[in-house]
Amino acid sequence: MTSLTDTATWRELHQHHARLAAVHLGELFAAEPDRGRRLVAEGGGIYADYSKHRVTDETLRLLFALARERGIERWRDRMFAGEPVNTSENRPAWHVALRAATPPPEVAATLARMRSLVERAHRWALRGANGRPLRTVVNLGIGGSDLGPRLATHALRGFDAGRIRARFVANVDPADLDAALEGLDADTTLFVVTSKTFTTAETLDNARRARTWLARTLGDAPDLAAHFIAVTANRDAARAWGVAEDRIFPMWDWVGGRYSVWSAVGLPLALVVGMAAFGEFHEGARALDEHFRTAPLESSLPVILGLLGVWYGDFCGAQTHAVLPYAEDLRELPAYLQQLEMESNGKRVDRDGAPVDYATAPVVWGAAGTNGQHAFHQLLHQGTLLVPSDFILPARPAAGADPEAHRLLLANALAQSAALAFGGGDPAAPHRRCPGNQPSTTLVLPRLDPRSLGALLALYEHKAFVQGVVWGINSFDQWGVELGKAMAKGLGPALQGGEAEAIDSSTRALIVRIRTAGAAD
Ligand code: F6P
Repeated sequence: MTSLTDTATWRELHQHHARLAAVHLGELFAAEPDRGRRLVAEGGGIYADYSKHRVTDETLRLLFALARERGIERWRDRMFAGEPVNTSENRPAWHVALRAATPPPEVAATLARMRSLVERAHRWALRGANGRPLRTVVNLGIGGSDLGPRLATHALRGFDAGRIRARFVANVDPADLDAALEGLDADTTLFVVTSKTFTTAETLDNARRARTWLARTLGDAPDLAAHFIAVTANRDAARAWGVAEDRIFPMWDWVGGRYSVWSAVGLPLALVVGMAAFGEFHEGARALDEHFRTAPLESSLPVILGLLGVWYGDFCGAQTHAVLPYAEDLRELPAYLQQLEMESNGKRVDRDGAPVDYATAPVVWGAAGTNGQHAFHQLLHQGTLLVPSDFILPARPAAGADPEAHRLLLANALAQSAALAFGGGDPAAPHRRCPGNQPSTTLVLPRLDPRSLGALLALYEHKAFVQGVVWGINSFDQWGVELGKAMAKGLGPALQGGEAEAIDSSTRALIVRIRTAGAAD
């Protein structure tokens, strides 16, 4: 394939940007009064307004041409067909199969096992070593084995079936597990050790500490196996660790951790909300999958969002992307999307291993509105950086929530996106003036429920996919995280007084400092 930056479309996009750079969003709206109704798209129940972007019809025409030239449709169809789109590991990235209407037999069988476990747990027939019903699930996992179930369980707080409560522990810092265990009764606590590889140091260390906690509190020779479930692709390691064979739920090498919440990795969510709601979560994702698979590129939400990201990162110089959910229960969405987008597309070589000469994934960050307004929005309104953002709003309040408070929340979201786009303030007082021209997409969900959440997460999965295809990179590996893991293994002994090989002077001095501080205690 011709190098991306050598293509005629890429060069045209640069020239087009040079012509458009001085045009303000306000001017685009003034020139086209209907813009806010025209530049919208809808899929999987999600309505996207992308009118507040620094784009014209010509920008969009060039971006869609770029998508076609890069083979979006062909790659999309290959991904849906379960072909090995994860090229460096020669395997599929087949997360869509996890939520398909007719899933592969191994997925269907796992869902059936999850259903039976959840039903038993909800009848309080799932019992611990001393025969008491297990009522709290503590998920021990990190990265994709934590962020998805954590986000979804908190986001669907309003759909809690009221039988099992969940806590989540990721950090190897013992403070995380200690805080999660506070107030828990060992007799009624179930640990789910979630690790695709079952080799992740943080998760195994937390599992070891959880086992010690149980053993300390459960009395003589307890059957600790009753308190553990594993979700993993490494069945042998889980069995060797002590998880009972029938308590091991599979993952598959064709599902990446950050794409795995739809699998048994979602077990803590299913235990909290029940399998009916878990099924609706799948249905929402499936609706978005269908939209991505069948809608023309010009009206496809993942394509539009993906291409806008390419536009800002590669042509307008933006280096970050803000995610602003106006829903407290979605407060963990920025962290989830950080892994999804930055681990998928934070790459510097293309699929053939050649270095890229263009920007790939931006830094993804954000916080729930309205909190962010009182923290970092100042920079968005008056700072010097271009920061495209996504506003995410559930149109209707959660069941039982105060509609007046919800209106206030939505009014703030709409005010922020308009103020960012069009600016305002006193022109005679520069320190008070907001220049505007800060772009955003507004995504409106009918309400925050399992279906909408499923569709929203699938939308971002496919957005990352679209961008990976445009950039010609493999979105489904994450070799960059390995180096630091290996180095940490070597440095552990050095902190205890041993020698670490080939250590740089900064790290050596820091170790001395830390050891000296330890000796002073
Ligand atoms: O270190 C990064 C990573 O490999 C992620 O990709 C993954 O989600 C996480 O660690 C956890 O891995 P595992 O599920 O194998 O414990």
